[in-house]
Amino acid sequence: MTDAPVAAVVVLAAGEGTRMRSPGTPKVLHELAGLSMLGHVVRTARGLSPQHLLVVVGHERERVTAHLTQLDPDAEAVVQDEQRGTGHAVQVALDTVPDLEGTVVVVPGDAPLLTSETLGELVGAHALRRAATTLLTAELADPTGYGRVVREGGAVRAVVEHRDADDAVRQITEVATSVYAFDAAALREALPQLQPDNAQGEWYLTDVVGLHRAAGRTVGGQPAGDPDETMGVNDRVQLSAAARSLRDRIIAGHQRAGVGVLDPLTTWIDVDVQLEADATVHPGCQLHGRSTVAAGAEVGPETTLRDTEVAAGARVVRSHCLGAVVGPGAQVGPYSYLRPGARLGEGAKVGAFVEVKASTIGAGSKVPHLSYVGDATIGERSNIGAATVVVNYDGRDKHATQIGDDVRIGSDTMLVAPVSVGDGAYTAAGSVITDDVPAGALGVGRARQRNIDGWVARRRPVPRTDEGTTS
Ligand code: UD1
Ligand code: CA
Repeated sequence: MTDAPVAAVVVLAAGEGTRMRSPGTPKVLHELAGLSMLGHVVRTARGLSPQHLLVVVGHERERVTAHLTQLDPDAEAVVQDEQRGTGHAVQVALDTVPDLEGTVVVVPGDAPLLTSETLGELVGAHALRRAATTLLTAELADPTGYGRVVREGGAVRAVVEHRDADDAVRQITEVATSVYAFDAAALREALPQLQPDNAQGEWYLTDVVGLHRAAGRTVGGQPAGDPDETMGVNDRVQLSAAARSLRDRIIAGHQRAGVGVLDPLTTWIDVDVQLEADATVHPGCQLHGRSTVAAGAEVGPETTLRDTEVAAGARVVRSHCLGAVVGPGAQVGPYSYLRPGARLGEGAKVGAFVEVKASTIGAGSKVPHLSYVGDATIGERSNIGAATVVVNYDGRDKHATQIGDDVRIGSDTMLVAPVSVGDGAYTAAGSVITDDVPAGALGVGRARQRNIDGWVARRRPVPRTDEGTTS
């Protein structure tokens, strides 16, 4: 890293991204690890603390700009009306800051793996050499599609786009990454000299390298420490490859910080998920959004969390949890579904095949088997018998259910909301509870059983003789 000041970072994000073949979504809004490509790049750019963070938008500019405002309200969107090439895009950005001096960093909006550290090293090398252009380069085993870095006696002479390269140049494995540090004044001088005399008829930013070189200015090529970081995402194959790479990086970071991630290959963790040391993630989990897992908690196997908090010592097995809170030492699963607003207190239990929505299950209370709990508040130490259903919806409105402390709801109870069951009350198994049950009472809401003697012998249909007696 360096402390060399950065006047501006320009993020190039105006292109349509035709190679994604995704007419409904601009390329930079595609997500990996729970954040858009643009989000990753803007965070990386912000890491340099630039005076200006300029994002060039064009294709679907309203959507991209609205997204940018959410990501980083201080970033400035610059509109490039027609996408005439990367050089043109930078020109449009610089025109909005005519007095800017010093270092301008350019990053493409489709390089989500790039880190602030790598950008910092680039800026440091650029400052040290007092260069006009310093180009971040990468050695790639398969450089197909990328611009090639043509060197002469070790010094960078030019960048040639894949489409414009002859066979000899295509053999070169050092590629341009579309990441640069420029001196603002030297860049301003070169941009108007760009010519669209290439296969795409565009103004290529890469040509600034050759122009600065020809003008006798200092041009540096700085190889990236980790070439993987510079990967550009042009299509969905590259998007999933970048997502895998980011997944590996995120998981390794957690592992080094003391989190047990048992099977990185089947685990996906978004960038903003927080895991404490000594949390354990079993195979096959997807942890999304702003989920958190505290020390001593175990998640998985095969569990999805989105924006869900799992407190210390809790256990969530083969379950799907959205916007839920699982309290300290609480247990969920296997095979349960916690929906937004599900809150489990300390030591509470939601067992197998249970769905909980917008409900609080108090400390030590249990919903062990096959139940639905919606819009309910359950106190402490209560037990909800198997196959209980909170009947919260009358076809038009949702109603609330209150269950007190130390309650025993018998198996297969229907609690028809709005209804309440007082502290210490019981309900009889199989009851349909439509009226409030006072504290300490037993609520029974079912017909009494009667046995009819000899019924079977009298009424059982007599089999026809040709059918035999088996069925
Ligand atoms: C570019 C480089 C290539 C490099 C590769 C690295 C050029 C000419 N080529 O190729 O040398 O190896 O990146 O990934 O620069 N954009 C605009 N406005 C435009 C055109 C593009 O904002 O008018 C944006 C795109 O949205 C994209 C970025 O610039 O985010 C790069 O454009 P893209 O078309 O992806 O360039 P590549 O062909 O990948
Ligand atoms: Ca690209």
